[in-house]
Amino acid sequence: MTSSASPTHHHGPGHHHEHGHGQADTGQDDALAAVLDLDAEIFAPYLDAVTRRVAELAGGGVTHVVDLGSGTGAGTFALLERFPRARATAVDSSPAMLARLAESARAKGLDDRVSTLETDAGTGLGGITDADLVWASASLHHLDDPAAALSGIRAALRPGGLLAVAELDGMPHFLPDDAVAGRPGLEDRCREALAGLHAGQVPHLGADWGALLAAAGFTVEQERTERLELRAPLPDAVGRYAHLVLGRVRGALDGRADPADLAALGTLLDGGPGDVRHREDLVVRSTRQLWLARRS
Ligand SMILES: C[S@@+](CC[C@H](N)C(=O)[O-])C[C@H]1O[C@@H](n2cnc3c(N)ncnc32)[C@H](O)[C@@H]1O
Repeated sequence: MTSSASPTHHHGPGHHHEHGHGQADTGQDDALAAVLDLDAEIFAPYLDAVTRRVAELAGGGVTHVVDLGSGTGAGTFALLERFPRARATAVDSSPAMLARLAESARAKGLDDRVSTLETDAGTGLGGITDADLVWASASLHHLDDPAAALSGIRAALRPGGLLAVAELDGMPHFLPDDAVAGRPGLEDRCREALAGLHAGQVPHLGADWGALLAAAGFTVEQERTERLELRAPLPDAVGRYAHLVLGRVRGALDGRADPADLAALGTLLDGGPGDVRHREDLVVRSTRQLWLARRS
């Protein structure tokens, strides 16, 4: 994580992190965990496609996967399914996230294949040297010094091992432009205001990971950007996801955005007829980037 302790740090699909390696506040973790779980559910087909591409490059010999910044374990569990002979080490600085992940592993009967490591992943990966695959989804940009972190990841990978870096460009879009009467462009303005906050709080969000990977001695074998779009009929999870994300956006922008925009956000969250959980016109748009890089 970065070192800022601002309670307004939002990013990704409405992610809102308390900072201070391992000091995360439980309430914040609960809210983030809910967003991460919904994100994994809604974008499961994308995650499935990504792990398939990873498997194509990784080949059949994957026995140890490291999930860096694992959160609730979306990547851990997807990869254990993709690589049935592998065990996974879930690394996160948040003990609450790791506790949730361990509980899910037990519930899924996978506890013998999952271990957890609570650490600041920017300072190394606990002496691991045999990873076949390191998976870092929406996590690398949190680390204080990406170059140092990549060199720690390199040390954790066996020669020829793969690093998968997945990032996203900011909060997803949910609404048609005219969704809130009198406030066209509401989501775009929110995204812009959040980007301004991130520039100070999460300076590595949007970094050129291809260049950083090359500089750290990785060979980038694939780099792709996908613009995902989900349209009706959408599962109920989408309304709940939009509600959580936009609620967190409103919290982050409180006192920082036009009061009329904050009020408009309120109508999307207040349980009334305009609430995102009741709307049938949601379209989820999210841009996701992926780099697959090999340790030489
Ligand atoms: C946006 S979440 C992504 C979670 C998961 N990879 C996913 O895609 O669903 C970022 C995660 O990185 C963790 N994290 C942030 N800074 C970290 C650090 N310095 N070391 C280890 N984990 C960190 C957070 O606690 C959080 O669980």
